[in-house]
Amino acid sequence: MNTLQSISYPIHFNNIAAELNKFIKQGNYSHFFILTDEHTVKHCLPLIQEGLDQKDNFDIIEINAGEESKSIDFCVGIWKMLIDFGADRNSLLINLGGGVITDLGGFAASTYKRGIDFVHIPTTLLSQVDASVGGKNGIDIFNLKNIIGTFTQPKAVFIEHRFLQTLPERQVKSGLAEMLKHGLIADAAYWEKLKHSNPENLDAELIYDSIAIKNKVVIADPTERGLRKILNFGHTIGHAIESYSLNNDENPLTHGEAVVAGMICETYLSHKKAGLSLTAMEEIINTLLGIYGKYPLKESTFTQLNDIMRKDKKNLGGNINCSLLSNIGESKIDNICTDAELVESLKFYASLEYAQA
Ligand code: GLY
Repeated sequence: MNTLQSISYPIHFNNIAAELNKFIKQGNYSHFFILTDEHTVKHCLPLIQEGLDQKDNFDIIEINAGEESKSIDFCVGIWKMLIDFGADRNSLLINLGGGVITDLGGFAASTYKRGIDFVHIPTTLLSQVDASVGGKNGIDIFNLKNIIGTFTQPKAVFIEHRFLQTLPERQVKSGLAEMLKHGLIADAAYWEKLKHSNPENLDAELIYDSIAIKNKVVIADPTERGLRKILNFGHTIGHAIESYSLNNDENPLTHGEAVVAGMICETYLSHKKAGLSLTAMEEIINTLLGIYGKYPLKESTFTQLNDIMRKDKKNLGGNINCSLLSNIGESKIDNICTDAELVESLKFYASLEYAQA
């Protein structure tokens, strides 16, 4: 469990300080920058800095934590700092943070002077198992998530298990949602193992296995022409619920919580349209509700949610496409879902009986 090879770069799991030092030395960079936010600069940078050979020989670019920073304004701020610090094409950007930092930093670096090298040191479970692998980067605009961005692979990814101790449980569970998704779409044995795991003490091996599942998919289809779409299971509806919640709830859902709600709706559609058995559907829904509880989805929001789905960047030819499950561990891409079916799945979710423990 040391290193996984991805499309064109390594994902390191152990001795990350030594690997990072080796990487910086070999790259012969003129200048390096660390992109952080107010949390990672405090809790994670010291852990990285203590192992760096060049302890003080870098500039820090700090942004505010939170999804609001994944905007063109913050991207302009990063470009400006790179210009002000005199970053040339031989500079390196180290993205130290969660998905906002890796997505925004990856986008800023891939466009600055037509692209400079960047690496990710993901600090949340969600970014370790999802955002940091596969080369997707981007920003949100006009309330649409990730609508502007590129596929540009990092030069390396470094996974530090110790960072998880700095996270609140709700953030760990947000990442766990993507791990559960990886089991559901591609590996029934992994799902079986994971559904009995303890989110407060997640084994490093389970994280490695989750990244290995995603990695296999993105190697087979780096730019999401086919197979990679299976990673979108739960996300067509989940992203709509997430956008809605961000704009309307005082305490918005995390990405993982929204994806879980989306996975439950899309599990229902999988049963209706993709051959998923009733027993499997019930097992999935009971497991997810048991871990995450239920979001109080109101019928009055269904039209608005459906409108958000209509603007999803994954739609093709005016059709809303979902990736659905045909079994636990098996999935099917390109299932066209009508507005009526999507709304029916939201109704199904809203009608689920769930007693909060
Ligand atoms: N987050 C899904 C993907 O990377 O394709």
